[in-house]
Amino acid sequence: MTNLDKAGTFKMGHRTVHRLGYGAMQLAGPGVFGPPKDREAAIAVLRDAVASGVDHIDTSDAYGPHVTNQILRAALHPYPEKLVIVTKVGATRGPEGSWEPAFSAEDIASQVHDNLRNLGIDVLEIVNLRITFDPLRPVEGSIEAPLAALVKLQREGKLRHIGLSNVTAKQVEEGRKMADIVCVQNLYNLVHRNDDSLIDSLAAARIAYVPFFPLGGFSPLQSTTLSEVAKSLDVTPMQVAIAWLLQRSPNILLIPGTSSVPHLRENLAAAELELPADALQALAQL
Ligand SMILES: NC(=O)c1ccc[n+]([C@@H]2O[C@H](COP(=O)([O-])OP(=O)(O)OC[C@H]3O[C@@H](n4cnc5c(N)ncnc54)[C@H](OP(=O)(O)O)[C@@H]3O)[C@@H](O)[C@H]2O)c1
Repeated sequence: MTNLDKAGTFKMGHRTVHRLGYGAMQLAGPGVFGPPKDREAAIAVLRDAVASGVDHIDTSDAYGPHVTNQILRAALHPYPEKLVIVTKVGATRGPEGSWEPAFSAEDIASQVHDNLRNLGIDVLEIVNLRITFDPLRPVEGSIEAPLAALVKLQREGKLRHIGLSNVTAKQVEEGRKMADIVCVQNLYNLVHRNDDSLIDSLAAARIAYVPFFPLGGFSPLQSTTLSEVAKSLDVTPMQVAIAWLLQRSPNILLIPGTSSVPHLRENLAAAELELPADALQALAQL
């Protein structure tokens, strides 16, 4: 069995989690809409993740919608004490699967309550406020109104901690004046490194940075250099992509997504991979 301890841990809010976790978005149907082809297979992935030591799962009630949280509940409820489930608000789904911004105070409250109901819990551990819709181009603008709505729900005891997603450095700064921000979830991987300076400033503040699309998302990473590095180390390109992120900064927590148990095990095994200096040098050119 993989030893996730090898990749270390990080404190997010009041909870310490392994740096290598799991993202549940791939468990819904195609386009993150509707039920998956094989619900039992999705349940098996979640149970295998937890049995392998995963204690950080990322989700959203917009996945499906509701489907992913309902599968999480069917697979793992009552949740293990050590498991931290992180969810997000800021979007709902249209009847054909479109992603609709949902930032009014009523929208935020209703999404928090949907998450509580579908996950079957009384308090959400961490809720990310997801701001921009194009992950490649977070847009500047005040986040005060939706964040104030989330802070109000936090004071009412519906959630313990707040994170931000799809945000700029300026929005993180604004958010930190209003709330104790425990994590930031933005697009970042071997080939999308726009957040380099944000990662470093969050590391200095001991705030977790959780890259989404760590493996490239809907178009998994492909590069000759990546394949060559993987081959030279006798591992897979996805394992190299994960190990590179783990080595990039100690505040990076990973949530690679998969709907397959073999892929899950392959990804978790990257906790034990240490990239040598020449591999890091080759990957820096990507
Ligand atoms: N905050 C946001 O706006 C936002 C946006 C997107 C995602 N997220 C979160 O971030 C998590 C991670 O993102 P993601 O799942 O979209 O992208 P990802 O982790 O970069 O990649 C997932 C894709 O890679 C494939 N894959 C996974 N492991 C593999 C392996 N070992 N070999 C080959 N292919 C592999 C998966 O297919 P298989 O199922 O076939 O393995 C899937 O197509 C999500 O689960 C979600 O929780 C957040």
